[in-house]
Amino acid sequence: MERSIQALRIDGARLWDSLMAMASIGATPAGGCNRQALTDEDKQGRDLFVRWCREIGCEIRVDRMGNIFARRAGTEAGIAPVITGSHLDTQPTGGKFDGVYGVLAGLEVLRTLEDKGIKTRAPLELVVWTNEEGARFSPAMIGSGVWAGEFTLEYAHSRADKSGKTIGEELARIGYLGELASEPGPVTAAFEAHIEQGPILEKQNETIGVVTGVQGIRWYDVTFRGKPCHAGPTPMADRRDPVQALAILCERLYSEVKAYSDDARMTCGDLRAEPGSRNTVPEKVVLALDLRHPKPDGLEHLHRTLYRLAEQVEEAAGVTIDVREEWHSPPVQFDESCVAAVSAAVERLGYSHRKMVSGAGHDSVYVSRVAPVSMIFVPCAGGLSHNEAEFAEPAHLEAGCNVLMHAMLDRAGIA
Ligand code: GLV
Ligand code: MN
Ligand code: MN
Repeated sequence: MERSIQALRIDGARLWDSLMAMASIGATPAGGCNRQALTDEDKQGRDLFVRWCREIGCEIRVDRMGNIFARRAGTEAGIAPVITGSHLDTQPTGGKFDGVYGVLAGLEVLRTLEDKGIKTRAPLELVVWTNEEGARFSPAMIGSGVWAGEFTLEYAHSRADKSGKTIGEELARIGYLGELASEPGPVTAAFEAHIEQGPILEKQNETIGVVTGVQGIRWYDVTFRGKPCHAGPTPMADRRDPVQALAILCERLYSEVKAYSDDARMTCGDLRAEPGSRNTVPEKVVLALDLRHPKPDGLEHLHRTLYRLAEQVEEAAGVTIDVREEWHSPPVQFDESCVAAVSAAVERLGYSHRKMVSGAGHDSVYVSRVAPVSMIFVPCAGGLSHNEAEFAEPAHLEAGCNVLMHAMLDRAGIA
């Protein structure tokens, strides 16, 4: 690689300013962001992104899933793009960096190349994927999932939030139901920068995680049905209480998951009781459950444990328990040549680093079905994410963005 290119660096201050500008959209009083997918705030964030990309001459296309593709032309016809990107949607009590960093790091790469007049042989494409979080609409990563062929467009458009509004309706309402078919063309390579969302890099005092894959995730809706009755006169022995069954199942599952392996994860992220009145034993409780493991057999073990325990508790507690699998994202291994491109960039730049597997899901999981992919992690304070206090050091964000730029240039080629 030419000397002047080796010395090329992004503008860390400009990256930080863009992150803070985006964070002002949907800002929460506690310092985080609530910019859930396809809300008015998401539209404002998308509009700002599109404006920034047009300012540097990118061509914008939007597909039927509302995924936004900003393309910087290459110099050679017929070479597939090098893509990067992530998501702008957040959790309800999300932070300023999860997803947004990957989008704005990509933007900062394009801005730097534009400033310096550097052209690449392959086009560069910066993507905002729709509804990565899975917070408003389930499942997660559905925008990249449709694009990669994991879900049909009809399935995705029909997914509804808690109030019954669907992805299709909300895309149309905010003006991001694009014309373009949501399907991949050829891709030379894809890279996604992201905060780690866990504690490893910070604890080891390392700047960059070279991501080799993503652990597996399975989501379930577990429905407990009992008999509604009065909270006062009904003796405890005469009740069929779905909440008690839920408590027993959760207790047993937590202890089996913890005993199985340090790598196993279990999260009860949402609970809904119906009719939802303090002094009526609920008729129904629905638990939104998330199980994870980095290995396919480990995840399969957790899956079977859930079904076995649900059967046992159902018999003992006299309520019905229905376990419905909502989503399965198996563990993924990224492409060796893309991992090598990230490693080579980190080594050239001289940052401390380690190889690691992602604990969180990312759009790169689905992108990796159709293109060679790797990811770049930077540390976040206390390993905290999906929290309004989420924070990442500007110097780390800058370092990750430099790695992203050099890995992309390596794959795109300098004209
Ligand atoms: C994405 O935020 C995930 O749940 O891993
Ligand atoms: Mn994310
Ligand atoms: Mn997230």
